[in-house]
Amino acid sequence: MALTRDPASSLVVVTGASSGIGLELALLAARDGHPVLLVARGVAALEEAAVAVRAAGSPGVHVLSADLGSDAGIDAVVARVEELDLPVAALVNNAGFGVWGPFAEQDPTRIAGMVDLNDRAVVLLSRHLLERVRAAGGGILTVASTAAFQPGPGMAVYHASKAFALFFSVALREELRGTGVRVTALCPGPVPTKFADTAGVEGLDDVFIARLASQPADKVARMAWEGLAKNTSVVTPGALNKVSSMGAKVFPMKVVTRIARGALGALDATGAAKR
Ligand SMILES: NC(=O)c1ccc[n+]([C@@H]2O[C@H](COP(=O)([O-])OP(=O)(O)OC[C@H]3O[C@@H](n4cnc5c(N)ncnc54)[C@H](OP(=O)(O)O)[C@@H]3O)[C@@H](O)[C@H]2O)c1
Repeated sequence: MALTRDPASSLVVVTGASSGIGLELALLAARDGHPVLLVARGVAALEEAAVAVRAAGSPGVHVLSADLGSDAGIDAVVARVEELDLPVAALVNNAGFGVWGPFAEQDPTRIAGMVDLNDRAVVLLSRHLLERVRAAGGGILTVASTAAFQPGPGMAVYHASKAFALFFSVALREELRGTGVRVTALCPGPVPTKFADTAGVEGLDDVFIARLASQPADKVARMAWEGLAKNTSVVTPGALNKVSSMGAKVFPMKVVTRIARGALGALDATGAAKR
């Protein structure tokens, strides 16, 4: 199911497009025949992604190295879209990262940067590009996480940042109901990408439930892309992830928070780092 009738004349903007879920989403946009703007910081990985996205059939591949944790980075994306002067079939708010470990030990600059990227950039890009999305009859896809469904001791700021992204997306969808703009949140569980290394997660591969819940990036991206085309509110890939998201709604928050603490495995009984 295509996003727009004339894909070649409407742009897909993907943040965090140089690896993982973002790269897979950019490939799907290319296969549908859209020109694509790929945004991330690392230039070499962006250039490599551009080659793959071009080979997948995109009629126009544009790359932009920008740090979306900064105003300058966000302004650069908006300026490039203005320059290309196309309606936007999809804004894919995918760039994001996590930080694992006790809050008291986390670098203040790094966790503030995470909130800037996971939330502030999502809000500002959505606001700046909304009129162009509306002009295309397109959509906004925001990558949240199953982390959005419950507090996460041991990854407290990340979970809260994803709850923000999820609530923002669902509320925006309701505000835009009837306008022709689709708004979808993607809530994946574990996906084997660079995410865990960046977050500093230790021992996740040994956690049976994490291995069971894991979904490949291409499958997650395909479900999200189809969900956006159908204007699904929240896409949660994988049966186990769906069940755990329902559990978070049914059980008291105190209980699911304790379970999340155990599952994340970052803290010992005193709340210090488990090492
Ligand atoms: N993998 C999982 O288990 C999982 C589960 C649930 C949700 N998610 C979410 O999925 C999204 C994609 O993550 P992924 O798993 O695909 O991880 P990934 O492979 O690490 O990809 C992250 C992408 O974001 C870019 N990026 C990071 N910081 C940036 C910044 N400041 N400005 C611009 N771009 C930036 C990275 O490129 P540069 O570093 O070169 O900038 C890269 O292209 C994230 O929002 C993540 O929270 C992941």
